[in-house]
Amino acid sequence: MITVVEHPLVRVKLTRIRDLRTSSEVFRARLSELASLLLFEATRDLATRAEVIQTPLAEYEGAALLRPIIIAPILRAGLGISEGMLRILPDATIAHIGMKRDEHTHRPVAYYFNPPSNLADADVIVADPMLATGHSASASISLLKEAGATRIRLVCCVSCQEGLAQIRTAHPDVPIFTAAIDPVLNERAYIVPGLGDAGDRLFGTV
Ligand code: URA
Repeated sequence: MITVVEHPLVRVKLTRIRDLRTSSEVFRARLSELASLLLFEATRDLATRAEVIQTPLAEYEGAALLRPIIIAPILRAGLGISEGMLRILPDATIAHIGMKRDEHTHRPVAYYFNPPSNLADADVIVADPMLATGHSASASISLLKEAGATRIRLVCCVSCQEGLAQIRTAHPDVPIFTAAIDPVLNERAYIVPGLGDAGDRLFGTV
């Protein structure tokens, strides 16, 4: 399932982070806010359990999340998203995933993976701003599944058909939430119009 989050605030913030003139400082801030908005949509169907509490006036049956949440940012640009997600899910834990490209196979290889021990019990949210070829996200999801995760969703800001098809084929059980589906993936695997290199723009390494 692919959900394009079309809220006006999402479109406005995405426009700012796409803009070439946007500084790293503003890029970080808007990306973080965009991540919070995307998370809101991506967690719409999370299971809850009843929690009975006492208000100052009476007993009240409210809700608590049924399962723990794990956010899995793909380094390094995913860090820019996880920060915004943590703002509205402060008790989530983090499974950092580092992927690099193998020089011979050109496929992603994990160089760092540090998940919490409760992966199997948790709702896991994979965070990567750009879903380009989809190979890193797909390999990251495989890694999480091998480590025991069963409930995984993917949140990205900008995607393209190639990346979406890669995830749909390799992981049809993983719903994808994106702010936009852009028309083209160029020969250097950049999404066009996209926003450039998300990691560089986030950390000022342009
Ligand atoms: N990663 C990025 O940061 N940008 C792209 O356009 C594609 C992959």
